[in-house]
Formats: sequence, structure tokens, C-alpha cells
Amino acid sequence: MMIDEKEQGKGYGSEAFDRVIEFIRTKPFGDSDRVVLTCNKDNTGAMKLYESKGFSASGNEDGEEIEMVMTVDQA
Ligand SMILES: CC(C)(COP(=O)(O)OP(=O)(O)OC[C@H]1O[C@@H](n2cnc3c(N)ncnc32)[C@H](O)[C@@H]1OP(=O)(O)O)[C@@H](O)C(=O)NCCC(=O)NCCS
Repeated sequence: MMIDEKEQGKGYGSEAFDRVIEFIRTKPFGDSDRVVLTCNKDNTGAMKLYESKGFSASGNEDGEEIEMVMTVDQA
């Protein structure tokens, strides 16, 4: 996910992310409640955003990327 640099810090990333989660709640990819993303371990801004949405680090890493997971409720 990327918001134009000039428009960052205005709430657009948070709003866009909420819509992604709303879509995922409809289970477009099959019957799973587990949502997984990866984030560069130095990207503290993005990590804070994901944590504020209920994601937490799973402990799995791939190079510079850490895996973060959350469980969604059904739509
Ligand atoms: C990460 C990104 C998508 C966030 O979008 P945004 O529109 O700037 O974010 P918002 O204004 O909606 O902020 C939402 C929350 O994110 C966190 N956050 C965002 N940028 C932050 C920063 N620079 N430092 C600390 N926290 C930050 C905060 O928790 C913030 O909530 P708050 O304002 O209540 O504190 C945007 O900064 C971006 O495009 N970055 C470059 C690309 C990138 O790193 N993408 C993610 C790859 S994993």
C-alpha cells in the first residue's frame, strides 16, 4: 500500500486500509479468517498503522520483512 508522499499523515492510509479489511471480511479468497501481510522491519510508520488495525508480529521473518497477522470477524 502506498499513499502519495505529499498526502501522507492525513488519514488516507488508515481509511484505505479499513476498506481493504472490509473487503477481506467478505472472504473473496476463500474460507479463511487469517489475514497476513509483510512489512519492512524499519518501517515503523506502517507497522504502527497495522498494529492500530489489530495486526501483530507473528515472529516469522524473511530477510528485512516481518510477517504480521490478524484474525477478522465474519462479514
Ligand atoms: C504507510 C502509509 C501507507 C500510511 O499512510 P498515511 O495516509 O500516511 O497514514 P495515515 O495518515 O492514515 O495514518 C494512520 C496511522 O499510521 C501510523 N503512521 C503513519 N505514518 C507514520 C509515521 N511517519 N510515523 C509514525 N506513525 C505513522 C500512525 O499510527 C497513524 O495514526 P495516527 O495519525 O492516529 O497516529 C504511507 O505512509 C505510505 O505510503 N508510506 C510509503 C509506502 C509504505 O511504506 N507502504 C507500506 C509498506 S508495508
